[in-house]
Amino acid sequence: MNNTKSLIIYFSRADENYFDGKTKDLDKGNTEIVAEYIKDITDSDIFKVEPLVEYSKEYTKCISEAKERIKTHDAPIKSNISDISSYDTIYIGTPVYWGKMPEELVTALKVLNFEGKTIRPFITHEGSGEAEIPAQIKEICQGANVLDSLVLVGSTVKSSKPIVENWI
Ligand SMILES: Cc1cc2nc3c(=O)[nH]c(=O)nc-3n(C[C@H](O)[C@H](O)[C@H](O)COP(=O)(O)O)c2cc1C
Repeated sequence: MNNTKSLIIYFSRADENYFDGKTKDLDKGNTEIVAEYIKDITDSDIFKVEPLVEYSKEYTKCISEAKERIKTHDAPIKSNISDISSYDTIYIGTPVYWGKMPEELVTALKVLNFEGKTIRPFITHEGSGEAEIPAQIKEICQGANVLDSLVLVGSTVKSSKPIVENWI
């Protein structure tokens, strides 16, 4: 019998962030809130990509760290999923960092085999929309069918569960 369970792979950072026009300390990252909605609705397995070197809790420092990691492609992670072969559908969740996904997510995705998979990206941002992320996913996850992204403004996710339900 086929295992039809889906998988959520996501990155998200709590702490100080730019939120609705000002900086604010968040207990939980915006993308994580959306990932949990998707898990609730679909009963998917879930995997959070965690940086080996934590980003600064301060927003302005985090911004420059993220820029550097994207530029150098140097972003090791604590651990990764080794095998995604039993999943047909994979939800990939990410914030927008400088128009792209955080480099740690690139580190996680680039070693996985997405041939024949369906990918459903979900993206949170604070103004730039999905930016380059769908193109990045298509480039990294070769052989996958990448569907349209769910794109949410990070500061609205707490009231966005109905939008997520509708998208699923
Ligand atoms: C390092 C960094 C870079 C960001 N770059 C962008 C950006 O280029 N465009 C944008 O709209 N928002 C940007 N943001 C805002 C985040 O994408 C947004 O707050 C997102 O919801 C954060 O998700 P998270 O809480 O799950 O980490 C950035 C935030 C950080 C911390």
